[in-house]
Amino acid sequence: TEAPRLIRSIRLLNAAEDRIKTEFTAPPPPEKSLKTPALLELAKEFQPFAVVLTNNAPLKGKDVDALPECVKLVSTVSVGLDHLDIPALHARGIAVSNTPNVLTDCNADLSMMLILAACRRAAEYYTLMKNGWHHGLGMGGMLGHRVTGKRLGIVGMGRIGQAVAKRARGFDMTILYHNRSRLSAAEEAGATYFEKLEDMLPHCDVLTLHMPGSPSAPPLMNSQTFSLLPKGSVFVNAARGSLVDEDALIEALESGHLFGAGLDVYRQEPNPNPRLTALPNIFMTPHAGSATIETRTAMCMLALDNVEALAKGLPMPTPVTV
Ligand code: GLV
Ligand code: GLV
Repeated sequence: TEAPRLIRSIRLLNAAEDRIKTEFTAPPPPEKSLKTPALLELAKEFQPFAVVLTNNAPLKGKDVDALPECVKLVSTVSVGLDHLDIPALHARGIAVSNTPNVLTDCNADLSMMLILAACRRAAEYYTLMKNGWHHGLGMGGMLGHRVTGKRLGIVGMGRIGQAVAKRARGFDMTILYHNRSRLSAAEEAGATYFEKLEDMLPHCDVLTLHMPGSPSAPPLMNSQTFSLLPKGSVFVNAARGSLVDEDALIEALESGHLFGAGLDVYRQEPNPNPRLTALPNIFMTPHAGSATIETRTAMCMLALDNVEALAKGLPMPTPVTV
């Protein structure tokens, strides 16, 4: 029998591309990543069993209808699913898989980096050094905030939220969390639960988001929720840009209500709002939470493991069931 047919929206890492050559039937990897229309065109032409993609090629609405009948699996190389219409895909009998777990630690590492960078003014220090450091800071110049012992509010205590809590405990931070449900494991590790986000916000020196994005819902962080954070607090987001009203964030940073922010994700990616980029007290990374050799390799391999399993009629390692 023929090896399973697959197409991909983007060139995968070499280990995965080597595996595609030996274990799958596939066109050559795209030189530039394919957006949705080009991916759908390729699907029509190549008649694949599986479509491997990332959030650079969203599949929603009529794009789901446009997938040919032969497609039985959409395997996304991401933990996030907000670029896919899961119910519509399932309604067409198309299974979906993602890549949870393998990116948890790297996202948590980057989140901790953003926390440290925002509290300790990494962006301003770095800019100063690059532009030439000619005058000492003196005793009171460009002071940041101590991280040790501060109160960290975590919104979304899933795998990543818990991995951030673990790191933050190494900095003697007090952990507060808001989540759909209480988690005994988190509380045994000393975290305090808040059923209502609004009740937690006033107690946070640093707030970090670790929940899925929902592009059609109103943003969780808006001028009202930002205003509930204490003056001088720090905001971090390595989850999804759709969770934040960026105008409200800009206003909170400009007015000095927030001391600083650390962001890995934006409403617009690439080309985030230039008013954000222009702010001095914000440390920004380009949606790079999972961007390590180890983790991206593991994500690509897991995406192929899912294709292979479904093609053989075996349970997929990481199916999306909701
Ligand atoms: C990254 O943003 C992911 O969803 O994996
Ligand atoms: C990531 O793996 C998460 O869903 O927390």
